[in-house]
Amino acid sequence: MAAPPSPLRDTLPLRLCRLEEIEDGEGKSLELQDAGGRRELVVLRDGAAVHGYLNACPHLGVPLEMVPDRFMNAAGTHVICRTHGALFEPATGYCISGPCAGQSLTRIGVVVDSEDWVVLTDRLPPER
Ligand code: FES
Repeated sequence: MAAPPSPLRDTLPLRLCRLEEIEDGEGKSLELQDAGGRRELVVLRDGAAVHGYLNACPHLGVPLEMVPDRFMNAAGTHVICRTHGALFEPATGYCISGPCAGQSLTRIGVVVDSEDWVVLTDRLPPER
């Protein structure tokens, strides 16, 4: 039996937002509808570079941010989970402290195209 159709499969690469919509050194939350339902994403910006992840803490699967589009700790060095304070490296998604230390955020494929759009390049990974 064939897999159910995915709206994303036929639309990749998919423009998500303009790079300028993401504060440098911060992140932006985004929602997409996939075959499995509504998916929450976060795209982090470091200058002209972006890093994309599912917006789900590996500890309990809940969204990371305390308030909309605020993902970083006070020092601006790490993504912090609002629930129990786990810290993640922005460029790798690796958790350096907290209840999920040693685990990682689930990476998604994003790039910045030649017109400064943040573009989803790959299908989203399955839910954990
Ligand atoms: S839910 Fe994120 S650290 Fe517990």
